[in-house]
Amino acid sequence: MSKLWSGRFAQSGTQLLDEFNASLPFDKKLYEEDIRGSIAHATMLAKQGILSGEEADQIAKGLMQIKQEIDEGKFEFNIAHEDIHMSVETRLIDLIGEAGKRLHTARSRNDQVAVDFRQYVQKQTLVIVHVLESVIDVLMQIAKEHTTTLLPGMTHLQHAQPINLAFHLLAYVSMFKRDIERLESSYTRNNVLPLGCAALAGTPHPIDREYVAKLLGFDSVSVNCLDTVSDRDFALEILFNVATLMMHVSRFAEELILWSSYEFKFITLSDAYSTGSSIMPQKKNPDVPELLRGKTGRVNGNLIALLTVLKGLPLAYNKDMQEDKEGVFDSVETALISLNILREALRTMTINTDRMRKACEVGHLSATDLADYLVQKCNIPFREAHFITGRAVAHAESLGKDLSVLSVRELQSVDARIGEDVCAYLSLEHSMNARTSQGGTSVASTQRQIEIFEAWINARKA
Ligand code: ARG
Repeated sequence: MSKLWSGRFAQSGTQLLDEFNASLPFDKKLYEEDIRGSIAHATMLAKQGILSGEEADQIAKGLMQIKQEIDEGKFEFNIAHEDIHMSVETRLIDLIGEAGKRLHTARSRNDQVAVDFRQYVQKQTLVIVHVLESVIDVLMQIAKEHTTTLLPGMTHLQHAQPINLAFHLLAYVSMFKRDIERLESSYTRNNVLPLGCAALAGTPHPIDREYVAKLLGFDSVSVNCLDTVSDRDFALEILFNVATLMMHVSRFAEELILWSSYEFKFITLSDAYSTGSSIMPQKKNPDVPELLRGKTGRVNGNLIALLTVLKGLPLAYNKDMQEDKEGVFDSVETALISLNILREALRTMTINTDRMRKACEVGHLSATDLADYLVQKCNIPFREAHFITGRAVAHAESLGKDLSVLSVRELQSVDARIGEDVCAYLSLEHSMNARTSQGGTSVASTQRQIEIFEAWINARKA
């Protein structure tokens, strides 16, 4: 089969070359973007008098027919056509002849692939944002119901201070909010048209790039053509944004795995989102969060892979850049399915509030409160208060009790300055509610955080 670029070749390539060189098996995913870009290009060429209106109409009609053929699975893809751009163009020439041969005027595959891929990345960025919003909605719903549900806050995976479940979940809302902001800032920065740069240096044809930008929904036109056909920063940004997002998902997944173990039992994942073992009949495994955690491997790999592909490339286009697409497709699809299943797993899990509360009753979670009491009520310097409290903890351990249930007498045996009013300070509820500082875990502070996130969500919906 003769290629669209075969003029200067005396000998045709081999099947092996086609298999190695072609991007068609994966870039056919970009057919809608390719067709949309070509219609905009042809429309502009006609407006500028480079094509006749009739030719542009024929091109648009032909392209719409090709889109339908692909939509319906009737299009015959042939790897010899190398990529989606040449597959569509070859078919267009088959369909409409002469006018089809004029479409590639003032264009190169270098700016064509850039505009196709950028349209894909821009669109998927907004899709990811949308799904992420649905995860946040579920987290907010659970948070609103659990502002008084105690659970042990941890550092080093050791009991630290009592917090409430809403406060814990709002930490993830905070992360996902930043992820959305990152995605949206990438969207804004990258909403720039690459088409019209041709191979690398622009074109002598009197094109109107601003017009194409408008037709395709870009805010502006790229400034330097040499940069434009070499630039894949927009692809790196979505890879980084997804890697960061999935790192957050993975941390959450790790907690869900721990929380669903017998040792914690803070949550029970719904049967609909759990799996069994092929040998151990009793097992119910947290495969969903484990896979969420595991999928960070591939999204991190995709980011590093593209950074590595790009790092030594001279300007402008090099075929190495064809390696940009599969990783991005994979990261986007991984993010979307991961967020969808995370949302459903969260929505359907059972929260075992009694287990969370029970876990707070070990580990002397209110130790910091005793130290704070000694500072506030007895005017003892914090370092000394810390030491006295440490002795109180040791005393509680020797009695086989938790600090929060020691009697006043037992506490006074450690330090006589401790007053009758101490017990109120050491209850778990008091400890959690005492942390009223901005961003703290008290119910009031948590409520305030819910209000802040709700205002942000409502402003986005408005
Ligand atoms: N299939 C190519 C890619 O994805 C399209 C651009 C090819 N340009 C070229 N001059 N060979 O990068």
